[in-house]
Amino acid sequence: MQETPRKVFLVGLTTSQANLTYELEELGNLARANNLDPVETFTQKLERPNPATYFGKGKVEEISAAVTTYDVDMIVANDELTPSQIRNLEKATNATVVDRTGLILDIFAQRAQTKVAQLQVQLARLQYQLPRLRTSMSITLDQQTGAGGGGFTSRGAGETKLEQSRRRITAQMVHIRQELADLEKGETTRSAQRQNNDLPNVALVGYTNAGKSTLMNRLLARFGIGASNDDSKQVFEKDMLFATLNTTVRQLTLPDKKQFLLSDTVGFVSKLPHSLVAAFKSTLQEAASADLLLHVVDVSDPHYQDMMTTTNKTLQEIGVSGRPTITVYNKADRTELVFPEVTGENAITISALDIASQDALIDLIKQHVFKDVAVVNLHIPFDKGNIQAQLAAKHTFLQEDYDDTGTLITVELSTNERETFKDYIV
Ligand code: GTP
Repeated sequence: MQETPRKVFLVGLTTSQANLTYELEELGNLARANNLDPVETFTQKLERPNPATYFGKGKVEEISAAVTTYDVDMIVANDELTPSQIRNLEKATNATVVDRTGLILDIFAQRAQTKVAQLQVQLARLQYQLPRLRTSMSITLDQQTGAGGGGFTSRGAGETKLEQSRRRITAQMVHIRQELADLEKGETTRSAQRQNNDLPNVALVGYTNAGKSTLMNRLLARFGIGASNDDSKQVFEKDMLFATLNTTVRQLTLPDKKQFLLSDTVGFVSKLPHSLVAAFKSTLQEAASADLLLHVVDVSDPHYQDMMTTTNKTLQEIGVSGRPTITVYNKADRTELVFPEVTGENAITISALDIASQDALIDLIKQHVFKDVAVVNLHIPFDKGNIQAQLAAKHTFLQEDYDDTGTLITVELSTNERETFKDYIV
């Protein structure tokens, strides 16, 4: 049963580059995703955060007074604070201070489902926790890393664990890194096998809740192996932030037998903690090695442009830049926009729920990933029936004829395939 949300304040600084309205709205969503209830927001215009208390003295006093008036005991800050800023603010306001990083780490911990994702999040949390052992937040984090987590609302239960030693954390981190390395070895092999498979690799990326998993599921239901009657192939899809934390790769086969791999991965949000980005780097490699990225955007959200900027920045951070990309403006059914509509070589407006949109998107994907295909004529001797079978498994022949010695086939082949079958090209 969901506990009553804990009342919190959101606090943030307007610095020269920040888009504070958007960031605070996002912070509010992150807080609600963590069963917190933002009841008031405090902001201050400062060139840079106060090194001791984040806010200036006057603002700290104002927040401190409001803590008593509103009977609130937790403050959520929009930036990642230093351990001493957290300690000083906690002392001055008599409330627990959580920063954006702590909040995101907590949501990730609750959502992580696979072994790898759980270990990656745990590693990121320990790294974050290490310098913060003397803050109230570390108590909560400690309870969660130890016993599976009860969210920020369950303060108090395990405070005896406060004295968790640095050595124990460091040892735990070493252990997790080893475990991850072992698990990732297996994953690299699988990934390499996929690469050998020679199929184009298309990766869904985008802001959290944009509709990536929905799109993947809809396409899988139509073009996946086993299609809609096999639920195990479906990806977790839900109206919540960071529903997906693990990368899922599936093979799609189109009616003309053209095939490609589609992968879905973790959604992004502003200021995604560095420790998390580092931890998820290997998970995100699927995007890094993709032949084509589908940048899914929730165009019905008024802040969609900020969300696109966030996604692009995060992609750069994980070393994915300059990849061929189609921008998929999704959820158009919630707007006045016409859909499906291709709005340029690299952009399309769709609703993931709509069949015509799915078809239009597939066409655009095909134009990108199969652009090196060319029509060729092959002559396959009768005693090379296996070659013909190999081709037939992956292609619909445009024409098929016979002469005295073999089969004449007209078919579209990629550059690689033209190399493989060059002995038969006439
Ligand atoms: P993360 O896992 O957080 O990265 O999210 P995601 O991008 O995978 O989003 P997901 O597919 O889970 O969709 C989020 C919500 O948006 C779900 O409730 C979907 O049903 C809904 N949704 C997705 N696409 C569309 C669409 O085209 N139209 C409408 N109306 N709703 C959509």
